Amino acid sequence: MYEHDVIVVGAGGAGLRAAIAAHEAGADTAIVSKLHPVRSHTGAAEGGINAALQEGDDWELHAYDTMKGSDYLGDAPAVETLAQDAPEDTMRLEHWGMPFSREEDGRVSQRPFGGLSYPRTTYAGAETGHHLLHVMYEQVVKRGIQVYDEWYVMNLATSDEPNPKDRECHGVVAYDVQSGQIEGFKANQGVILATGGPGQAFDHTTNAVSCTGDGHAIAYRAGVPLEDMEFIQFHPTSLPSTGVLISEGVRGEGGILYNEDGERFMFEHGYANNAGELASRDVVSRAELTEVNEGRGVNDEYVHLDMRHLGEERILDRLENILHLAEDFEGVDGLVEPMPVKPGQHYAMGGIETDENGQTCISGLYAAGECACVSVHGGNRLGGNALPELIVFGKRAGRHAAGDDLGEPQIKTGYGNDVEDETDVELPVTPGSAGIGTDDGVAADGGPRSASDARSDGGIATDAAGAIERAVERERERVDRLMDRDTGIQHAEIRQKLQTAMTDYVNVFRTEEGVKKALRIIRECREEYQDVYVDDPSRTFNTDLQQTYETRNLIDVAETIALGALVRTEFRGAHWRAEHQERKDEEWLKHTLISWNGGKPDIFYRPVILEGDEKTYEPKVRSY
Ligand code: FUM
Repeated sequence: MYEHDVIVVGAGGAGLRAAIAAHEAGADTAIVSKLHPVRSHTGAAEGGINAALQEGDDWELHAYDTMKGSDYLGDAPAVETLAQDAPEDTMRLEHWGMPFSREEDGRVSQRPFGGLSYPRTTYAGAETGHHLLHVMYEQVVKRGIQVYDEWYVMNLATSDEPNPKDRECHGVVAYDVQSGQIEGFKANQGVILATGGPGQAFDHTTNAVSCTGDGHAIAYRAGVPLEDMEFIQFHPTSLPSTGVLISEGVRGEGGILYNEDGERFMFEHGYANNAGELASRDVVSRAELTEVNEGRGVNDEYVHLDMRHLGEERILDRLENILHLAEDFEGVDGLVEPMPVKPGQHYAMGGIETDENGQTCISGLYAAGECACVSVHGGNRLGGNALPELIVFGKRAGRHAAGDDLGEPQIKTGYGNDVEDETDVELPVTPGSAGIGTDDGVAADGGPRSASDARSDGGIATDAAGAIERAVERERERVDRLMDRDTGIQHAEIRQKLQTAMTDYVNVFRTEEGVKKALRIIRECREEYQDVYVDDPSRTFNTDLQQTYETRNLIDVAETIALGALVRTEFRGAHWRAEHQERKDEEWLKHTLISWNGGKPDIFYRPVILEGDEKTYEPKVRSY
């Protein structure tokens, strides 16, 4: 068994930042990651970091834009913390050597991004995330923080109390991809999940194949609620054939969207008469798909993004990476022709429920970055707000886990704090693993029992060593069961079916019947997963085995997205429902929470916090 004070799971922007902060606060810190840090998906973030750095801008404006962008579903304490801390945390990156793009006079450049009332997106060309990862990884190496890379975290080791809020997280169980060993990692002070998004639940996504919602799923099955999972961001400019991202930076620099008739539809069809192409992403994605659905799409599938008028010099200076992506993935030269683009799944606004310090309702378990929901982004994230979230809340989670006092959080977590009870929406199938998730099946959740029943197989395990040993044993047995089978269904078949259902039915435009269809298909995927087998018999570098685990996680996470989409009977932010065409503030100024109660997803709600430090954010009509 390995042992450290703080264990960070995942080595993208949030994980690296959390590890640096925990180490600075004096904790013996280690990172356990399925990828080498610089291969993390943060490296694909192109656009930039929002921070109020310049005269004329201030954190209050940033907070206001973020709250409006969230369609008034962000929690003010989190939104204000983000806006207040982003300038200093961004400048710290600068001091660590981040190669930000600059103006002639040497000042860091900032450009406009969607939904911002001031050009406050700091960037490094169109490769901001790539540089961010390298700069922070250097700091990790410099500090001698231990990195266990290519170790896949299979599960958490928590105690087994009936109520998740009484549980404690003692560590994780991980699989060494190189050797095939399964080992326990004991965390004396805390485990921080920083595992990124669940984009692979969809088949047209800007997300890497590694984005499989692992942290979401293991926290969920351990009893932590997933919050606002219905809010999925579809980025307006992904390349049609692969989903590869074309940065909003193109529109920030002045790029224009045209339909097949050559109309600048954002204005000409009245989707956003002020901001046009720089309206927030939910607005632009719906506009593009409306153009396609009404017969004005190019090849009935996409629209054009034109940046030719920016000129070669400016494009090469600020957007060179975009030229390579368009050429390599679509065979289009962005200097001489417009690029084809369409909406693609890009980001999950929801995630593992945390407070402002990154703490979940399970003691010793934290989450930060895209896998977490603190909640800053509410119903829709503004472009350029993901990277500041990583550095601000990654840092806070790291410090808090290491024992720094960050004050009493205002945001509550877990069942029983301020919650409103369950939904009365009729579900088309039984969700969760009831009837199929037996204790010795390959899909057994490996987590504590239900919130209402203590374990029947030997009582409650509360000590750290016992919890870890038990968790390691469960995963070893599960792998043996998977490897012992030589026929069945391969995980890839199930994953493809799940992804297609999510893209067909839980996309930009959602209907009740469509979402119900998705839930039925997800149930089929769960049933089929009972017969999953691993074709590759090897114990070393067995990515088939790892991906079989990931597919299980995707099933659980996709189900929470679809459940949230069904129960939220309104249109807010990125969540559009055909039958409910308005935002219903009287009823729906509240977060959706879904928690895994021994295999049964329980749905409940918590009111959004609109009271900030000095003002209350009154919901207004949101137009751009
Ligand atoms: O469009 C982009 O460059 C993406 C930025 C973001 O998601 O924040």
